[in-house]
Amino acid sequence: MEKAAMMQTAQAMVESFVDLPTIPQVATRVIELLDKPGVELDEVADMILADQVLAARVIKMVNSPLYQPSHEIKSVKRALIYLGFRHIRELAFTCSFVDVFQGRDGIIDLKSFWEHSFGVGVVSKIIAQRVRYPDTEKAYLVGIVHDIGEVFLSYYRQNDFRSLLDSVQGQPFRLVEKEVQFLGTSHNEIGLCIAKKWNFPADYCEVIGLHHAPDEATLDPTLCAIVNLADLFCCVRQLDYGGNSWVSFNLAEERAWAILKEYAPNLAALDVERFCYELDDRVPEIEDMVRSIFQGIGAK
Ligand SMILES: [Fe+2]
Ligand SMILES: [Fe+2]
Repeated sequence: MEKAAMMQTAQAMVESFVDLPTIPQVATRVIELLDKPGVELDEVADMILADQVLAARVIKMVNSPLYQPSHEIKSVKRALIYLGFRHIRELAFTCSFVDVFQGRDGIIDLKSFWEHSFGVGVVSKIIAQRVRYPDTEKAYLVGIVHDIGEVFLSYYRQNDFRSLLDSVQGQPFRLVEKEVQFLGTSHNEIGLCIAKKWNFPADYCEVIGLHHAPDEATLDPTLCAIVNLADLFCCVRQLDYGGNSWVSFNLAEERAWAILKEYAPNLAALDVERFCYELDDRVPEIEDMVRSIFQGIGAK
């Protein structure tokens, strides 16, 4: 199907989502503020404290196994000192982003969706470190948001989404291909429209739109390839929301692998099996983190 037609269909669909939520302003403000040179710690702490839900969630998350503090951190300021500016951006963005989905359970179970999203975030960061991508924090953030189109599709197009899943029971399939067949568009185009509406930076938009076609990326193909591979790893390591009923892939055939090997020739020597075991070790940590973030906010 023509890309332009798919984009048009997605655009019309997103326009028809009458109660499409907005991304909390604090998320974009945190990103802006931390990009400013000479920003003071107190300034950032005050901004986070102005949003009590966010402040509480930051504290909860900084104490999760992902950040492993040696003793419990009880204040936003302490969290800032412990994590540093770069990490606090990561954390504040994540915390305010998850609020958008509060109470929006669609066909996809939100908890599984977040486990997948955080999984892709964490694995993207690990791959980014391996290939010495300069902004590992960005890799983590785009990993978290890469499938936003999916959760909206499952919420706003429940009937179509249900028929799609019913049609593939027991057979191997790639969700994105089925979406095109059933809806005339996919979560990539839908996600891209939403990301643009939310004024996400251009490289974030590109990953959301092209994480299943990294070789079409022009702004940052490396970043798209990182998220594409992280997505594949998470799907085969059971960090998936049931969207893909296939359990293996051949790295050598993946375009993302070729893109990354070109970027970082040392990757050719990677022991993939060992790498997968390493990722397995992180799975309970990701599940714990999702549990700690979502306690009591509507996810199952
Ligand atoms: Fe996806
Ligand atoms: Fe995904």
